Amino acid sequence: MFNFTFHNPTRIHFGKGQISAISPEIPAKAKVLLTYGGGSIRQNGVFEQALRALKGHTVLEFGGIEPNPEFETLMEAVRFARKEKVDFLLAAGGGSVLDGTKYIAAAIPFKGDPWDICRKGAQVKRAIPLGTILTLPATGSESNPFAVISRAETSEKLAFSSDHCYPKFAVLDPETTFSLPARQVANGVVDAFVHTMEQYLTYPANAPLQDRFAESILQTLIEVGPKTLAAPSDYDLRATFVWSATMALNGLIGAGVPQDWATHMIGHELTALYGIDHARTLAVVLPHLLRVRKEQKREKLLQFASRVWGVQKGEDGERIEKAIRKMEKFFESLGVPTRLSAHPGVESDTPAIVASRLKSRGFTKLGERQDVTPPVVERTLALSLAAA
Ligand code: NZQ
Ligand code: ZN
Repeated sequence: MFNFTFHNPTRIHFGKGQISAISPEIPAKAKVLLTYGGGSIRQNGVFEQALRALKGHTVLEFGGIEPNPEFETLMEAVRFARKEKVDFLLAAGGGSVLDGTKYIAAAIPFKGDPWDICRKGAQVKRAIPLGTILTLPATGSESNPFAVISRAETSEKLAFSSDHCYPKFAVLDPETTFSLPARQVANGVVDAFVHTMEQYLTYPANAPLQDRFAESILQTLIEVGPKTLAAPSDYDLRATFVWSATMALNGLIGAGVPQDWATHMIGHELTALYGIDHARTLAVVLPHLLRVRKEQKREKLLQFASRVWGVQKGEDGERIEKAIRKMEKFFESLGVPTRLSAHPGVESDTPAIVASRLKSRGFTKLGERQDVTPPVVERTLALSLAAA
């Protein structure tokens, strides 16, 4: 096991009606900016519940944060918050609203060009404190320090991370997710599954507990994913899914183990180029990348086959292929395609374009062994494109 420091400071309020728990979390004199997306929180009662909980506070609002949150929109919020001297941010929505709000929090006090936070990895020395009300289980953004921001002007989608951006608290009320369209539920299951894989499917690092944490999340998602999609208002199923997605990316399962993240880096380019939903980019990359790297990932692929899918018979290569196919079937059963050709706009030169974009950003050594080079990316996407 590698050395690690684990500290997740986000206080979680989980369960029905827990939005009411936020009032004591926010200083009484704070000027709060409530941030949200395209309006789902106004339709599902989250907006009213948040305002009710903040009755004693001064609350301003900023809506319109789009999926794959846009730099320009977020900078509008930054200017507004600076002018109004906002000193607490409350994000209510999915990963995009939460990520966007982390960026706003970091950009408000930032000296210099705030895009440097994403483009140059400029250090975030301070951020306005923020809290979250999560309405879409998927990204783990509610209790992690990461955010991914897009800039249409340059068709970039870039991540940043800062400990100052950990939410102070997160409300996870599964009932607030009942209004999700099926597509977003399916996306969420796939995103959480792939987050787990990025931290698990690498090479053995003498970390059996982290392995079993990861395997339990994968098995739980396989079990409840299709059920919660079919029965969207079943509280217990949804609660299990919500908690699985949070645990998949809150730092716990990744502590002390190698991590991959190549699938995500490739996926972000596909979203930036073609507007494909985040989770849907992952589903067209991961199976094919696992095939391309099956030698480097052999031991963990065999463990995945055996422990997660119960595949124990056959030659090594057969078992690995069987496990990858089962994973593909699982994604497809949720309505999420696993072949690049399923997405409009993708052309035969897409693999080369994505590889060269990653190269131009200096992302030439991805993966846990830094061996996912641009040619490997190209081969992976070509395989996905050609898959029947
Ligand atoms: O904008 P509104 O009206 O709220 O509608 C949203 C949006 O259209 C809707 N929605 C959310 N909750 C709802 C709801 N509709 C009905 N009822 C509800 N309860 O869902 C749509 C998609 O929302 P979005 O926030 O974009 O989805 P998701 O949570 O999947 O977030 C995706 C973003 O997170 C980033 C992705 O790159 C992408 O930009 N990620 C963030 C990560 C992190 N912070 O750690 C890690 C991930 O790997 C990912 O990269
Ligand atoms: Zn993701």
